[in-house]
Amino acid sequence: MINSPAELEQLRQEILSKRNSNKARISICAGAGCLATGAGKVIDAFNAEVEKAGLTADVNVKGTGCPGFCERGPIVVIDPAEICYLQVSPQDVPEIVSETIKKEKVVDRLVYSDPAKNEKAIREADIPFYKNQERNIIGNNIKIDPKVIDDYLALRGYSALVKALFQMTSEQVLEEVKKSGLRGRGGGGFPTGIKWEAARKAPGETKYVIVNADEGDPGAFMDRAVLEGNPHSILEGLIIGAYAIGSHEGYIYVRQEYPLALENVGVAIKQAREYGFLGRNILGSNFDFDIKVHRGAGAFVCGEETALLLSLEGKPGEPRARPPYPATSGLWGKPTNINNVETWANVPLIINNGADWYNQFGTARSKGTKIFSLVGKIKNTGLVEVPMGATLRDIIYKIGDGIPGGKKFKAVQTGGPAGGCIPEEHLDIAVDFDELTKAGAIMGSGGMIVLDEDTCMVDVARYFLNFLTQESCGKCSPCREGVKQMHRILTNITEGRGKEGDIELLEELAMSTGSASLCALGRTAPNPVLSTIRYFRHEYETHIKEKRCPSFTCQGLVSYYVDPAKCDACRICFRECSSHAIIGGKNLIHIIDQAKCNACGTCFEVCPARFGAVIRISGEPVPARIPDEMRIIVRQRRVKREKQDERSLHTD
Ligand SMILES: Cc1cc2nc3c(=O)[nH]c(=O)nc-3n(C[C@H](O)[C@H](O)[C@H](O)COP(=O)(O)O)c2cc1C
Ligand code: FES
Repeated sequence: MINSPAELEQLRQEILSKRNSNKARISICAGAGCLATGAGKVIDAFNAEVEKAGLTADVNVKGTGCPGFCERGPIVVIDPAEICYLQVSPQDVPEIVSETIKKEKVVDRLVYSDPAKNEKAIREADIPFYKNQERNIIGNNIKIDPKVIDDYLALRGYSALVKALFQMTSEQVLEEVKKSGLRGRGGGGFPTGIKWEAARKAPGETKYVIVNADEGDPGAFMDRAVLEGNPHSILEGLIIGAYAIGSHEGYIYVRQEYPLALENVGVAIKQAREYGFLGRNILGSNFDFDIKVHRGAGAFVCGEETALLLSLEGKPGEPRARPPYPATSGLWGKPTNINNVETWANVPLIINNGADWYNQFGTARSKGTKIFSLVGKIKNTGLVEVPMGATLRDIIYKIGDGIPGGKKFKAVQTGGPAGGCIPEEHLDIAVDFDELTKAGAIMGSGGMIVLDEDTCMVDVARYFLNFLTQESCGKCSPCREGVKQMHRILTNITEGRGKEGDIELLEELAMSTGSASLCALGRTAPNPVLSTIRYFRHEYETHIKEKRCPSFTCQGLVSYYVDPAKCDACRICFRECSSHAIIGGKNLIHIIDQAKCNACGTCFEVCPARFGAVIRISGEPVPARIPDEMRIIVRQRRVKREKQDERSLHTD
């Protein structure tokens, strides 16, 4: 138990002196992404190999948080040389230990390389994916074993708390956060300091502070990475916030589907209590504060703050009208301040470095950095942290390395399921709260899904509206009925039942749902619809008027048939078709039974390129089936082709 700032400083010095900076450190990302690609076995292999080599005393092996480059995991970083190895397997481990650890030589084949651009990078900081980021929050993840509090302390951990408790009054802490311009990272972008002030000023002895770690956006994992990788940064931010607001009890609301985050947060709280960062008389400051963890059952709407509060109270998670705002009447009717995981993780940085330092990052009205989960049709999937104001183009092309498979970019969907789609012509906008909103999208909590030319934008809108229909709590009718009706119209359009007037009806429904819904789920649900109509109206028109899906995505508007002149009766599509829709046989030209075909496209994908016999069409009729007696022709065709092949072989 640490009882004073001096004792903490002494402990920090002891930790640092034990960690001889020349001692080799092998950090293996143990984030959920890398664990899924085998990081657990890589960690075991390193431990075994280091022991076998008799280096246990000289080398420190640890599993860490996610540094973001999940696409190339498992990631291994060797310090102090800062060598970064990508896609490491257990088989690579003996060579890394014998070459890099023992002889300080780089294993060339494991470092970042891009032969197309003739680029190579050994150090983490030189890899283009990282070079173009500003990783104030997730940069430390690879240096920290989240289950070891000393790792956090070695990196100035809890020094912001000491500064706040012993060098600043609670008013000064509040003023610093206000001055920093920090805005909430959970979606609304509300100024954090103003919200804290409202809770602080609200009458009442008992006040609560809450971490919103519900993170329900499909494809988003920013909060999970911070919870799993650097949980003490969130705890430290929360304790500082509690001090500024005058709260002595906090909650972390984590979705049940995040088991590793729950485990690491649990361990972090236990260790923080043992060290004296939580509990009574924290570090001898007379300030008391403790935290409980609440597991959410995984409903998207429970991320909405008023629904989250009810869920915490053990009631069904349904949003309620505001005011009263949680700042005055929150958990059990008491003043409550709720912030997102990333918002809390910014607080120690602001207190340690000052609001002026923080202000250097970002735009006039959106300060600091923002973490995005970059997913979809992008070469470098992962977590990226950039200063507010970075352009979408830089994020997608400099960090994400563009679109795979030589495909063209079509749009980027930002802001989670209720976000919007931004097309190519707006790729140069500066990403911040206001600019994204102007472009018809939102920042949301940081989801960023890249879509390529093969994406149908009507189907994208339908997909997100489907999610929102499922997740709407159903309490208010504009959201319950409006979102459902928009989804129904979009489904009709994608299944070939669209009619004149549907676009206008969608726009009308979007307006009424957006303006009359109780919470931001319904109020933002029109975004996917309106943004796709705004930028891709022609696709809607093509679906409705020509019954055609230009990207061949909407199964209801796409048909497949076998070109009899090209079919070789190889039977591959016959075998692969799960609907048994292919009528085929040895030496018999195959036919697709249109009544059974569900247009899944498997036959199109598996038909060998040398035949290219399966034809995909949309907006045109399927050619008439050839008579059965014509189907036998394939055998003569094959014999003829084999003879031709033989002849050309002899001529060669
Ligand atoms: C449907 C819905 C889901 C939400 N989900 C989350 C979430 O998962 N995490 C989060 O921090 N905020 C979420 N929010 C926003 C919260 O209501 C609230 O604004 C936020 O937690 C406040 O923290 P901040 O000021 O730090 O952004 C959601 C809002 C809505 C309408
Ligand atoms: S999980 Fe390892 S880099 Fe993201």
